[in-house]
Amino acid sequence: MDRIAITGGAQLQGEIPISGAKNSAIKLMAASLLTEDALRLTNMPRLADTRFLGKLLQRLGTEVVEIEGEDGPETLLRTPEITSGFAPYELVRQMRASFNVLGPLLARTGQAKVSLPGGCTIGARPVDLHLKALEALGARIDLHEGYVYAQAPRGLKGARIDFPFNSVGATEHAMLAAVLADGETVITNAACEPELIDLADCLNAMGGKVSGAGSSTIRIQGVSRLHGATHAVMPDRIETGTYAVAAAMAGGEVRLTRTRSDFIQALIDKMVEAGVEVTPHNDGLTVRRNGALLKAVDIETGVYPGFATDLQAQFMALMTLADGESVIRETIFENRFMHAPEMSRLGADISVQGGEARVRGVASLNGAQVMATDLRASVGLVIAGLAARGETMVNRVYHLDRGFERLEEKLGACGALIRRIKGDGEGDED
Ligand code: EPZ
Repeated sequence: MDRIAITGGAQLQGEIPISGAKNSAIKLMAASLLTEDALRLTNMPRLADTRFLGKLLQRLGTEVVEIEGEDGPETLLRTPEITSGFAPYELVRQMRASFNVLGPLLARTGQAKVSLPGGCTIGARPVDLHLKALEALGARIDLHEGYVYAQAPRGLKGARIDFPFNSVGATEHAMLAAVLADGETVITNAACEPELIDLADCLNAMGGKVSGAGSSTIRIQGVSRLHGATHAVMPDRIETGTYAVAAAMAGGEVRLTRTRSDFIQALIDKMVEAGVEVTPHNDGLTVRRNGALLKAVDIETGVYPGFATDLQAQFMALMTLADGESVIRETIFENRFMHAPEMSRLGADISVQGGEARVRGVASLNGAQVMATDLRASVGLVIAGLAARGETMVNRVYHLDRGFERLEEKLGACGALIRRIKGDGEGDED
């Protein structure tokens, strides 16, 4: 299995182009099931997760073609006919977002059999809200032996869907199903993350009638058919925030391009409070730190526009070297501090109790072997390694490959001493 070795201490100088958003791209790919015409997605990230979903879609009847377009990677998806409405456990277990094919399959063909995703390292992550939304739209849902059997032989019907709390995945799932339902659907207490706007824009380009995405009430006037379209995937706000924190951690000056600073305003506010210079510009932002000591600041994760849970591990890495104590509260997932003991292996002083971590800044970190349990935790360890003395070896790199495109190349181009060590395929760290 591959590892990533980082020799800490090099400042970062240069430019990092941000890729298309993983968490948007995979939902947009699922939207291609809703029409027999071609959906052309530009600014596509090339990641393990997008490749993986491509394979699942191919099993369901989608033709998936990856091309290098004039302005970067593109994926063409066309599903002339759904040849199978079955998404097996092996596939859904490996990537939870595969579950989001359920709604489009149901909307297009009136039936689907999709595995329940099961738990995950960061929390239980149930899908009850997804299923309630589909039931509200008239689907009959039965659960047997870990599978969801969904049926709507006479089609889905527009309805009111009132979520008890914000869920990104359930809101997206409801939109993906309601767009082809008969009549109007009103979703209240909808998630407001930018990925919802990206999905609505794509569905509207395909002939859908979705309004209000990005606010807590989304209205969808169902249409009888969708057509093909071209849509550019939004920039990855988590990749943007990750490299912003990396630049602050290593010191130096990095310009992040092909992205938007407003997507990570909550992070920027905290970085500025900690003493990092951040300058937004038309095409992204520039992050600068001249080596001055960082100030400890507290954060609490929350739904958009709050501090993203997907940036919590990265910010924790930054706080390990700050002056004073930082309190980090995780409110979205119940078990998202698995990186804390690994950061402690590098010399960080962190104690965790329930949903709260206390990080007492230390004078320096020292390289060590570390292992991560999820994507964002892994990149938090890479960031810590950028400032640790000596060599940090991050194991289980497959987590990183799920969501960060050419990470070593992008950081290496700015002067980071980072390299991938190819494994022997024996699964030595697991
Ligand atoms: C999305 O997960 C992202 N994943 C996550 O990123 C991200 O951390 C999360 O949103 C929050 O922003 C993708 O987009 C693929 P939720 P999602 O439904 O949709 C509970 C990454 O690293 N809940 O908003 O699964 C749930 O357990 C990933 O890229 C229910 O109880 O998140 C959680 O506590 C990790 N019942 C909370 O809601 C449900 O039916 C919010 O989850 C659904 C969710």
